[in-house]
Amino acid sequence: MKIASILENTELEKRISITPDIAKKYIDLGFEVALSENYGTHLGFNDQSYLDLGVKVFKNENEVIEGSDIIVQLGLLSDEKNLLIKENQTLIGVLNPFQNMNKINNLNKKNINIFSLELLPRITRAQSMDILSSQANLAGYKAVIESFANFEKAIPMMMTAAGTVPAAKVLVVGAGVAGLQAIATAKRMGAIVFATDVRMASKEQVESLGGKFLTVEGSENLETEGGYAKETSDEFKKKQENLLAETLKKIDIIICTALIPGKKAPLIIKENMIDNMNAGSIIYDLAASQGGNTSFTEVDKVVNRNGVKIMGETNILNKLPTSASSLYAKNVFNFVMNLYDKENKKININLDDEIIEKTLIK
Ligand code: NAI
Repeated sequence: MKIASILENTELEKRISITPDIAKKYIDLGFEVALSENYGTHLGFNDQSYLDLGVKVFKNENEVIEGSDIIVQLGLLSDEKNLLIKENQTLIGVLNPFQNMNKINNLNKKNINIFSLELLPRITRAQSMDILSSQANLAGYKAVIESFANFEKAIPMMMTAAGTVPAAKVLVVGAGVAGLQAIATAKRMGAIVFATDVRMASKEQVESLGGKFLTVEGSENLETEGGYAKETSDEFKKKQENLLAETLKKIDIIICTALIPGKKAPLIIKENMIDNMNAGSIIYDLAASQGGNTSFTEVDKVVNRNGVKIMGETNILNKLPTSASSLYAKNVFNFVMNLYDKENKKININLDDEIIEKTLIK
């Protein structure tokens, strides 16, 4: 079984799918591993560190693709490289099927097995493969670090002979995986943390991390069977707006993480609410590339609205690509192990396995 990966366009994506640790695991299981030249150099993994493990490193990316059974990437390959993929090869990545449906359909015509890992079911057995959780967890942490770095006041309360510096107040909007890590990180650094979500299950989780949960009074629990959020009604939106508009007067930093799968991110922090905030406050919008949770979010820009800085970027994981790659590569390895039939040394597409059935794009 030959598994391969080529360097992503590092301007846009600095993560990699096969770290040296993971290359060793594949090789120990009898896989051949092939990578393109300088695959991990930007993360400090030079070609020699892979060659020492028995990985084959190729100058020509086309050879890597053509000679492989399984190709593991972050995003889709370029159109030119897609032409090289042939029948019975397997492609695994985070392929954004909603946006890339045409390209994926074209590839599928060649009878290729295409797996997109953001489609993994949120079930216990899939946790070790759950790229959404591993990456969102890091994103939540880094969003706090980025916003604190831009905040021009101290975070923890400090009582000094020269007076008391109050603790910063943070609001986390959306208490899923990213939001819960944001709460934990902000708490660890001494902030006072508030959070809100439409899923009532998150209240207990927020409180267990020391956050104060802001409940939209009289609202029903808006959780789907899969554990995701449902879209809110106009009545809910109004109540949430009133609750947040009041709260924001005392908030220094907002971390936005609210998402609804397959839809544009909900608009939660509106113009009038931002106008209630003090100059010097920061909003970090992790939902930026899905449309943003605020009225002013612009991807990869810092928007200044009356002294409130609103930040959001395409891929915050590019700011900690080594940690993100380490978790991503392990998730992919676990996914490949679930697909791999060790006895017959081949991929086994068992559609009775929910993990395989849900991630395979047919
Ligand atoms: P996500 O990234 O889709 O959304 C982030 C958060 O935003 C969610 O908590 C969602 O409820 C919230 N949200 C959406 N609209 C909102 C609004 N209008 N106002 C306030 N908040 C809003 O969600 P994520 O982080 O991927 O988590 C989804 C679910 O999956 C959670 O229930 C989580 O506990 C569960 N999960 C389960 C796993 C398992 O293996 N059993 C593993 C990881 C997550």
